[in-house]
Amino acid sequence: MAEIAIETRDLSLWYGTFQALFDVNIQVKQGMITSLIGPSGCGKSTLLRTVNRMNERLGYVRTAGEVDVMGENIFAEEVELARLRREVGMVFQRPNPLPLSIRDNVLFSHRIHRAADEKISRADEDALLEDALRQVLLWDHVKDRLNSRATQLSLEEQQKLCIARLLPVKPSVLLMDEPTSALDPKATEALEALIWGLRGTYTILIVTHNMAQARRASEECAFMLLGKMMEMSATEHLFLSPKLSETADYIEGRYG
Ligand SMILES: Nc1ncnc2c1ncn2[C@@H]1O[C@H](COP(=O)(O)OP(=O)(O)OP(=O)(O)O)[C@@H](O)[C@H]1O
Ligand SMILES: [Mg+2]
Repeated sequence: MAEIAIETRDLSLWYGTFQALFDVNIQVKQGMITSLIGPSGCGKSTLLRTVNRMNERLGYVRTAGEVDVMGENIFAEEVELARLRREVGMVFQRPNPLPLSIRDNVLFSHRIHRAADEKISRADEDALLEDALRQVLLWDHVKDRLNSRATQLSLEEQQKLCIARLLPVKPSVLLMDEPTSALDPKATEALEALIWGLRGTYTILIVTHNMAQARRASEECAFMLLGKMMEMSATEHLFLSPKLSETADYIEGRYG
């Protein structure tokens, strides 16, 4: 197993003529939770969306440099986007469940991605469903209403479900872009506990504006500024003794 789950080498990205990332070099350790912090507009979401090649949906995006996920160059010609997106799941600010039942949400991606001729029994699907919902600590809350609409769940439950539905296709990396920003403090705490429990099994790269969250809920932390990767280290170390004055200014709330 690769010790580094995500590695970028001199990654630059342009939206048209606007350069949003400048020679970003980052190594994200396997099985760890790494937080990505920095002022609004510094390129956190852009970097995240590069790792599963989501930015390419925009015709005017150009990238240079290299990105490896689990030791594999994601820009290589033979890479299948569908397989990359299974390997690298993503969660967004606002929970976005499909207007389907809880059960169908969790099994959706697995049903789409498995080979047309692959036979899977109802019992196998039930097992995948239960396993995914247990991993996100939702099983006991929803096991008696698996056929009810996911959109009727609370925001906290919806966001947990959005994580659960990534799991049946066995991702190795989970990207989370401010996954608790739409939630109240109690729901945020519940999500943090759940994310903490997923470390080891998955490599998690999480964007947050919440310094307390970065400190509580990540093991490594990377600080970005104006499209550049400024500093990355163990979270406690970054917060207690940042190398750069820019990092200190940001984490102490002097700007951004
Ligand atoms: N689709 C796009 N087209 C053009 N420019 C974009 C696009 N998305 C982002 N940008 C620009 O790229 C820069 C980085 O944006 P990005 O969304 O990655 O920042 P961010 O760090 O995630 O900010 P925030 O904390 O506000 O979410 C910004 O200047 C932004 O305006
Ligand atoms: Mg963003």
